[in-house]
Amino acid sequence: MHNINFSHTPVLLNEVINNLNIQPNGTYIDATVGGAGHAIEIAKKLINGKLFAFDKDPDAISFSKEKLSGYSVALINEDFANMEKFVNEKVDGVLMDLGVSSHQLDNAKRGFSYKKNGPLDMRMSKTGESAKQILNFKSAKEIANILKIYGEERFAFKIANEIVLRRTYKAIETTEDLANIIRGVVPFKFKRQKNPCKKTFQAIRIAVNNEFLNLKKGLNSAFNLLKPKGRLLVISFHSLEDKIVKNFYKDKATGCICSKNFPICVCKNVKKANILNKKPITPNDDEISKNNRAHSAKLRVLEKL
Ligand SMILES: C[S@@+](CC[C@H](N)C(=O)[O-])C[C@H]1O[C@@H](n2cnc3c(N)ncnc32)[C@H](O)[C@@H]1O
Repeated sequence: MHNINFSHTPVLLNEVINNLNIQPNGTYIDATVGGAGHAIEIAKKLINGKLFAFDKDPDAISFSKEKLSGYSVALINEDFANMEKFVNEKVDGVLMDLGVSSHQLDNAKRGFSYKKNGPLDMRMSKTGESAKQILNFKSAKEIANILKIYGEERFAFKIANEIVLRRTYKAIETTEDLANIIRGVVPFKFKRQKNPCKKTFQAIRIAVNNEFLNLKKGLNSAFNLLKPKGRLLVISFHSLEDKIVKNFYKDKATGCICSKNFPICVCKNVKKANILNKKPITPNDDEISKNNRAHSAKLRVLEKL
């Protein structure tokens, strides 16, 4: 077996497989292959079909290469924002299972988790600007904005100012350095409610990986690649991410919004898709009890007209 331990329990697996409506001869994209938990179940249902599987993390690709050997899968180590450059045919379905994998969170060396001490890295692709560079070189205002916008952290300015003060004595190097700064700043009564590090770590991770811009680009690319009746499935794990997906779906599913009194349409909105589930699909209690990562998952399904 491969030397990278990549255990990751796929979230909402049955719901994903049912809603993708897999045709044995169809073409599909798993935009976030991770530990290939969803991908292998999609691949098993294909006879003459094809699966393109993307991940920007080279570890996910090398693990999945082994797990998916024997299946008709093209593995691509790229950001899903660029998927149109790599897929030159229309597809029947796209899955995007957003965020980080358990492997990334559990591996202290990747620096994603406030529960494990490691270098402040957080780069899914292992390239570009790391969390350490952001925290040690950006201004207090820039850091505060990241924490406020991507983490909705109410103590954004206090935490950012403390980071900038501390780094004048010693660079912020590890996840523990950052976690200690946050714990020192957040008042006691807020620390009791939730782990005070959660929002800051989420915000820095989003900034490091440019997650929102790439999500918007990925949604557009995926939609462009869909055949008529093709489906786009997105699983999100926090409200800011879900809002981007929800708004994108709403935009595609909205037709003319002109007043009935107008003789002709001036808004030029054309309905391009149907939202198949008005409310997001969420995991049942059984799944949540077996896999804590699933507790905040929301699956939304869009079908192109
Ligand atoms: C939640 S995991 C996917 C787990 C997978 N569905 C499974 O069953 O094992 C998310 C994966 O998406 C990857 N990822 C996140 N954003 C990405 C992006 N913009 N482009 C490509 N891969 C991305 C991460 O590196 C991670 O491996």
